[in-house]
Amino acid sequence: MKVTFSKAAPPKSAAMIVLCTQTDDFGEVFSALNEDADGALKRAAKAGGFTGRKDQFVEILTPAGLDQDRIVLAGVGDVKDFTLHDAETLGGGSIARLLKTSEKSAAFLIDGLAEHVEDIDVVAAHIAYGATLRAYRFDKYKASEEKDAKPALSKVSLHGAGSNAKKAFADLSALADGVALCRDLVSEPANILYPETFADRCRELEALGVKVTILTAKDMQKLGMGSLLGVAQGSVREARLVAMEWSGGDAKQKPIALVGKGVTFDTGGISLKPAPGMEDMKWDMGGAAAVTGAMSAIAGRQAKANVVGVIGLVENMPDGNAQRPGDVVTSMSGKTIEVLNTDAEGRLVLADAVWWTQEKYKPSTLIDLATLTGAVIISLGHEYAGLFTEDDALADELGEAAKSSGDKIWRLPLAKTHYDMIKCDIADMKNIGGREAGSSTAAAFIGNFIKDGVRWAHLDIAGMAWSKKATATIPKGGVGYGVRLLDAYVRETIESD
Ligand code: BES
Ligand code: ZN
Ligand code: ZN
Repeated sequence: MKVTFSKAAPPKSAAMIVLCTQTDDFGEVFSALNEDADGALKRAAKAGGFTGRKDQFVEILTPAGLDQDRIVLAGVGDVKDFTLHDAETLGGGSIARLLKTSEKSAAFLIDGLAEHVEDIDVVAAHIAYGATLRAYRFDKYKASEEKDAKPALSKVSLHGAGSNAKKAFADLSALADGVALCRDLVSEPANILYPETFADRCRELEALGVKVTILTAKDMQKLGMGSLLGVAQGSVREARLVAMEWSGGDAKQKPIALVGKGVTFDTGGISLKPAPGMEDMKWDMGGAAAVTGAMSAIAGRQAKANVVGVIGLVENMPDGNAQRPGDVVTSMSGKTIEVLNTDAEGRLVLADAVWWTQEKYKPSTLIDLATLTGAVIISLGHEYAGLFTEDDALADELGEAAKSSGDKIWRLPLAKTHYDMIKCDIADMKNIGGREAGSSTAAAFIGNFIKDGVRWAHLDIAGMAWSKKATATIPKGGVGYGVRLLDAYVRETIESD
């Protein structure tokens, strides 16, 4: 999507989106247009029950007196409480409508907002950002889609913004690229995206200045990563561990580490999952995709912070060589694990990934993201990711980032009792704790591999990686969850130091 900003009037050829405040006359811009159209806009608004409320839209085709073939009236609501998040929703919601038409370009007329908001350029940038997020489409495998079934929209222009809008949009555009990368990775089928090819995609971040290191199965063997490799051993696809380093901060500053679960397909292994819905498990690498997308965003906007992203990539398959329930594996940390259920594999991957990350990078803070448990979907549905941490300050920081980014989180308990529930008779721990508090025992398992003094939080994003319904800024499919949260965390907590 090409995005431009200007002070000039919109081109006649574009579909025009008019922002309307929730007032009797919908604002001056509307009034002037309505006059040119001899009252047709006001009549259409009335007929459509349009009051200028948030999320309200009315479309008018070929109004007499105006050059445009299509006008979209978009409700702004009460300007007094108009936020940047509202701007994104407005941009995305408007574009969602036009994607269903044959319009090639969309022009937002935003003059009317200028007098009501602090900085119209920043608002304009966020409208464009919302539009960009909503226009995403994963259609590379639609080989014979009819041309007119594809959205034609390729240009968005914003009229009434000043020269700083472009600058404000640059960072948001890098963020939208990171979200798109995350969605691409999550949407790819597992015959195309497997550990080796996922690692290849990470290599592409080198173009942004990211240092990429890829460990092969042999490298991991030497390091003693028996926990991660045990999961991979039933698959013909070899495991990989990828580290992506962005060093934009003070050389003396310890990095923060983002670690992601990257199970490119989770059949459950010998503890095989039931067939219905198993196709969903292609997105069991949503944590790794979020970390990769976040690294792209952070590097793309040249963040002044030291951040390392580490992802553990495996495929979990049943096979003659697959690990069995009851097997005992030794992790890189030296701790042993009895694998009672081969479907609780994400934690086994993370055990070695977080340990290696701490040994190699000595991070101050480590945040891991994983589509870890079905239990978190039972607890929180598809609205919130589960946050587990024993560090209240870190929970607050992440809470702030969640609020500003729109990637919602809800804190769930993690306490000694959950560590007790995974104690084991024959090894240092077992990989399941039974049905009760399943997301908390999974978090405790990872906690067993976090070193003293490292600030750590775990995000269970099982309910968030994929969505069956669209919102204003997220088409259905891969959500891109976590990219904006992690970017906001780095921006608000690390860069503001
Ligand atoms: N990848 C799944 C978790 C999952 C389930 C993500 C549904 C998204 C939707 C994970 O590896 C898993 O299978 N977890 C088990 C753990 C259990 C065996 C203790 C689960 O949640 O059932
Ligand atoms: Zn599993
Ligand atoms: Zn899994």
